[in-house]
Amino acid sequence: MKGIILAGGLGSRLYPLTKVTNKHLLPVYNKPMIYYPILTLVEAGVKDIMLVTGGNSAGDFMRLIGNGKELGLKQISYAYQEGEGGIAVALSLAEHFAGGERIVVVLGDNLIEGTIKPFVERYRRQKSGAKIILKKVPDPERFGVPVFSARPRPEKYSGSGLGGKNNKIIRIDEKPKLPQSPYAVIGIYMYDSAVFEIIKTLKPSKRGELEITDVNNAYLKSRNLTYEILEGWWTDAGTFESLSRANNLVAEKIATTDKH
Ligand code: G1P
Repeated sequence: MKGIILAGGLGSRLYPLTKVTNKHLLPVYNKPMIYYPILTLVEAGVKDIMLVTGGNSAGDFMRLIGNGKELGLKQISYAYQEGEGGIAVALSLAEHFAGGERIVVVLGDNLIEGTIKPFVERYRRQKSGAKIILKKVPDPERFGVPVFSARPRPEKYSGSGLGGKNNKIIRIDEKPKLPQSPYAVIGIYMYDSAVFEIIKTLKPSKRGELEITDVNNAYLKSRNLTYEILEGWWTDAGTFESLSRANNLVAEKIATTDKH
């Protein structure tokens, strides 16, 4: 399995912090933001990764990460994204790198407390299709939100697969005004090679982007999407509020690990 980290975008919600640099190079407590998704993949045993980025600061990633040895990578490749277009466009640049293998995609501003290792292991055993990861959040309207076929909600859900008759995802809504569940689809996705064909069929959304949520909805349509619920905290870091939260969460995590 190969890893792909998407670290492009203008970071406009963090302006002027992103006026002269890429969002993913900003500090989150004691490390540059981009270290966290890399370490998430390495910890899960995914050590051959491609970093997709763009803009004027692209060269800084190479200076920072080099050949990735210090972070535990076996191999790092870089792709340069010209212009914008959304997460799915950035991902399409990794088709050649993926070479028909399965991939774990991580958005460069997504940080987690724990591990995705068991999810990656279960996905390896899944015959085909995709796997997404959910986390209960107080503000689902900011994210992709799963709509479930029936109640009870999947609090008790544990394990892989489509999770029994009562808690199938029937649809994912991107940033809905009225969220149909309290869950966010976090920015860590597992796909088989069909993902690149799916991306070619997508049309731009209202915000003019090819949405990763539309990719996941296509897998849902072909009944080939499983989900997991993440333990421990998760946050993105693309707004002042979430960046500040990310700093605090990492600081707390380090303080509690140091005490033990
Ligand atoms: C993106 C996705 C959204 C997902 C989120 C996770 O949102 O479109 O579905 O829940 O990442 O961080 P964006 O950061 O582009 O607003």
